[in-house]
Amino acid sequence: MTNKLKYFIGNWKMFGDFGSLKIIYQIHRFCVGLKRRLKKNKIILCVPTTLIYYFNTKLKSKFISIGAQNCHSHDTYGPFTGSVNASMLKNAGAKYVILGHSENRTEGDTNRLIKKKIESALNQKLNIIFCIGETFEEKRDGKTLSILKSQIKGSIKKKYDFKKIIIAYEPVWSIGTGKIPKIQELKKTFKYIKSEFKKNFKTSTFPVVIYGGSVNGKNVHKFSSISEIDGFLIGGASQSSKKFIDIIRNYYK
Ligand code: 13P
Repeated sequence: MTNKLKYFIGNWKMFGDFGSLKIIYQIHRFCVGLKRRLKKNKIILCVPTTLIYYFNTKLKSKFISIGAQNCHSHDTYGPFTGSVNASMLKNAGAKYVILGHSENRTEGDTNRLIKKKIESALNQKLNIIFCIGETFEEKRDGKTLSILKSQIKGSIKKKYDFKKIIIAYEPVWSIGTGKIPKIQELKKTFKYIKSEFKKNFKTSTFPVVIYGGSVNGKNVHKFSSISEIDGFLIGGASQSSKKFIDIIRNYYK
């Protein structure tokens, strides 16, 4: 086990209301108990836009940061019904925003659009959780690495502040299915993502790269042998304090 900072990021997706604050309180209480160990962990919960401001004002936790799940690419106000931009998220108190999630890619987010969103969010000094990942068909056809390369090159620019970008590798076929990649494969993929970054962007900052897709308290220990994995993006299991806490606890077992 390394001493590097590990990220446990929850993506609540379309889940939660004001009453769900109790889930975050329970996670906070667990963190209070961990205290010293927590120096090695960063806990972020990306919640629906309707809850960001409320959670931020109610929850006074130095352990947990609140993030958003998407934003519009336009920097200023505009005629975009139902949308919010990065500055509005920042104003509500978000510190992070997930961009490029496959659930948004299937709704029309292209690499180019994601790049615009990243730029806009970075301009607002938000931290980005940038999602990449191949579909089942792309994996079957041996295209995983080339897809990841095109997603990275299509949305990331050299001039970005890489300290503000977390890459989340989420194979689309693994999200919500209970299937996870083979550990050897995952090791290779993580090495590839990190080396692609270094090669393309000539950055001395190695990017933080986390894994997402069906992570739970039962399988999380399998990932701990891969030192390249800097943490997890957790969907379904982050909607329950018990399941989320189990992931953190069992990772260190
Ligand atoms: P699950 O953990 O539910 O598979 O979701 C992963 C995900 O999409 C996180 O962004």
